[in-house]
Amino acid sequence: MPQTVKGVIARAKGADVELVDIVVPDPGPGEAVVQVQSCGVCHTDLHYREGGINDEFPFLLGHEAAGVVEAVGEGVTEVAPGDFVILNWRAVCGQCRACAKGKPWYCFNTHNAKQKMTLTDGTELSPALGIGAFIEKTLVAAGQCTKVDADADAAAVGLLGCGVMAGFGAAVNTGGVGRGDSVAVIGCGGVGNAAIAGASVAGATTVIAVDVDDRKLEGAKKFGATHTVNGKTEDVVERIRELTGGHGADVVVEAVGRPETYEQAFYARDLAGTVVLVGVPTPDKEVTLPMIEIFGRGGALKSSWYGDCLPSRDFPMLVDLYRQGRFDLDAFVSERIALGDVESAFEKMERGEVLRSVVVLR
Ligand SMILES: NC(=O)c1ccc[n+]([C@@H]2O[C@H](COP(=O)([O-])OP(=O)(O)OC[C@H]3O[C@@H](n4cnc5c(N)ncnc54)[C@H](O)[C@@H]3O)[C@@H](O)[C@H]2O)c1
Ligand SMILES: [Zn+2]
Ligand SMILES: [Zn+2]
Repeated sequence: MPQTVKGVIARAKGADVELVDIVVPDPGPGEAVVQVQSCGVCHTDLHYREGGINDEFPFLLGHEAAGVVEAVGEGVTEVAPGDFVILNWRAVCGQCRACAKGKPWYCFNTHNAKQKMTLTDGTELSPALGIGAFIEKTLVAAGQCTKVDADADAAAVGLLGCGVMAGFGAAVNTGGVGRGDSVAVIGCGGVGNAAIAGASVAGATTVIAVDVDDRKLEGAKKFGATHTVNGKTEDVVERIRELTGGHGADVVVEAVGRPETYEQAFYARDLAGTVVLVGVPTPDKEVTLPMIEIFGRGGALKSSWYGDCLPSRDFPMLVDLYRQGRFDLDAFVSERIALGDVESAFEKMERGEVLRSVVVLR
């Protein structure tokens, strides 16, 4: 029997989000219904609401979640009812050209649920990043459920489902940060701080946090920043060069998604250094760079979708680091809120007051 539960939708571009009744079908072949226990508020949810991702309104928002599998459909073997899982937006297909090349973290044909969750009048919803988890129960592809140890706090480990994984992986997987590297991270929200933590765990010895908000810079120190630069009052490129012996950083992670910060990243890296763009630009943004500088500086300009992660490999590893006290996931949880508080969480995010507001259910 389909179930009717409460969930948070963005009905139209720029309109306040609404808590409404949503119909969740029983899981079909390859699908699972998950009782959501926690879901973080990511900047990407706000991008959806602002029409910055696509126009497929109404969206069912929320995608950084953990919960317990309630039911599975036919043929599902990887998870079972009762399993504690983190939801992921990279259920790899195993067959596309990226998977065939042994690089499944680039999978071009990831699985989502085939059936649609709907409003009570039958209107189909577009789940954010194929998940949709500001809701009591959600329907996903079984491969979107990554089983992890059940005794971890859902509000903390659920954040691995998007922003924290994206940031950590941007530094470690995409940027390849290693022992002794210098790293600069521009933008110290949930994503940027996770990149700082990742760089630190991977052995970087200089980790420079850049933001325009002193509160964020103060917070970044907790995650392993060795230096901070305020982009409002200081010349970011100059300061990063000064802090790296005049050279620039080996790896610069851009975690804002704006042309001006991308340009800072481009010029703040050392020769043969790497820029990683993990911030998501809106479609109207453009950068202009001298081609001779692109050539002359060498190195790599990369982008990082979801931190080039493989959820089945990376989520359990990060939960282990968390439990060993080497990766402080609790520090990302600024506040615990109810489903009805998502709109005010967006406002707090825009005012820079929080790293992550986390919706906690039951
Ligand atoms: N690539 C991915 O897979 C992925 C996954 C999740 C989120 N994201 C994206 O990452 C970005 C960051 O997400 P978040 O949740 O951390 O957002 P957030 O709003 O929590 O953090 C953004 C930070 O950037 C800072 N900032 C803004 N303008 C700046 C400037 N000019 N210079 C320096 N800092 C500046 C803000 O003060 C804030 O601390 C967003 O674009 C989001 O969509 C990407
Ligand atoms: Zn694939
Ligand atoms: Zn996200």
